[in-house]
Amino acid sequence: MRLSRYFLPVLKENPSEAQIVSHRLMLRAGMIKQASAGIYSWLPLGFKVLRKLENIVHEEQVRAGHIPMLMPTLQSADLWRESGRYDDYGQEMLRIKDRHDRDMLFGPTNEELITDIFRSHVGSYKDLPLTLYHIQWKFRDEIRPRFGVMRGREFFMKDGYNFDLTKEDALHAYNRHLVSYLRTYERMGLQAIPMRADGGPIGGDYTHEFLVLADTGESEVFYDSAVTDLTFGDREIDYDSLEQCQAVLEEFTSKYARTDETHDETVFNEIPEDRRRVARGIEVGQIFYFGTKYSEAMNAVVQGPDGKQVPVHMGSHGIGVSRLMGAIIEASHDDKGIVWPEGVTPYHCGIVNLKQGDEEANAACDALYASLTALGLEPLYDDRNERAGGKFATMDLIGLPWRITVGPRGLKNGVVELTSRRTGESEELPPEAAVQKVAEIYAGV
Ligand SMILES: Nc1ncnc2c1ncn2[C@@H]1O[C@H](COP(=O)(O)OP(=O)(O)OP(=O)(O)O)[C@@H](O)[C@H]1O
Ligand SMILES: [Mg+2]
Repeated sequence: MRLSRYFLPVLKENPSEAQIVSHRLMLRAGMIKQASAGIYSWLPLGFKVLRKLENIVHEEQVRAGHIPMLMPTLQSADLWRESGRYDDYGQEMLRIKDRHDRDMLFGPTNEELITDIFRSHVGSYKDLPLTLYHIQWKFRDEIRPRFGVMRGREFFMKDGYNFDLTKEDALHAYNRHLVSYLRTYERMGLQAIPMRADGGPIGGDYTHEFLVLADTGESEVFYDSAVTDLTFGDREIDYDSLEQCQAVLEEFTSKYARTDETHDETVFNEIPEDRRRVARGIEVGQIFYFGTKYSEAMNAVVQGPDGKQVPVHMGSHGIGVSRLMGAIIEASHDDKGIVWPEGVTPYHCGIVNLKQGDEEANAACDALYASLTALGLEPLYDDRNERAGGKFATMDLIGLPWRITVGPRGLKNGVVELTSRRTGESEELPPEAAVQKVAEIYAGV
């Protein structure tokens, strides 16, 4: 992409409505525009990152054996009456009437719809286990939408649902989700800590929330500092192995880490004092096992091996895809702007031409652009007739992790400059070596 042809409406001033840094930077970097309270248009740069996050979520779900599909945003109220949640859900549910005066709603989640699909098509235990998921827009009429995409009313969420014959199988699904979520967040450059949580309106005895530690987080959390030493890394895991998935769950959940709803002062105080932490966190996902709550209410039964009809064991599992963008920026920025982790950056590398119009500089930038593209990388080339200072400020604001700077002086010596956004360190290299280095960095991502 050439910046002269792109649509990147950056703001010079700090927007006064933004209270936290991620909201401020997303507005300033031209990533989103508020359409109405808690509802945003995703401008090209924001949309590009959203697609990257979505892809990572898809890849990790499919790797875990879960099956993608797509359900609608608008749902009929009838199914929700069956589960009893039409009345329970309260004012967070946006209720709509169609022209025939039928009650509809904009889905805040999809347990009812998926259970209906399941009961229409699955009748035997032989079709289990089954985990279906989708990534779709949700609407919750939050009383206080705020912090930009962090607490929107319309937001993008991955929600998955497992159907199993036994509680043991359903807990295997729970563990698989925990593992796949750990991988997902790490690929996004985030540490998200699974914490014991409360079921809320979805219900259930087993549930963990995944929290990214941040001062601006809305949840109060209590944990043993030893949990922050845990990383999943690049270990191989067999998702079909109950033991392997269970071992990861135990490793990541045996140390104290809880949200305020489940916090227990007595247990907390058994941790050595220097490891006790009280902090704030951003909830970026939650997993639930809720047994037969929905299958009983909605008659989602299968024939078991003994010929008897039994309700299936279920769980649901959500990742806040749009909220994650805010969480990543909260965790990774400096006073000049965003610093994207390599796994989610909208463009892999910026190219800054210090002397636009200079024949040699233009040719060198075009050649860099072509070499990077040929290697499957996406550069963003600032080819505008702007001063160098303005170009650097834009690149720093939008946060591409690597920048190649090209100017006539360097070219005389056969070099360009490669700069890390994170450290600010630069090195001079021949253009092809800079391309190789960028390619190597992304080979491992
Ligand atoms: N209003 C929202 N805006 C953006 N993301 C959201 C919002 N509500 C929920 N999410 C995301 O969707 C994920 C799964 O939904 P879940 O039903 O667990 O949300 P929740 O527990 O009600 O969230 P919260 O406690 O923050 O209101 C959450 O972990 C969060 O990352
Ligand atoms: Mg939740």
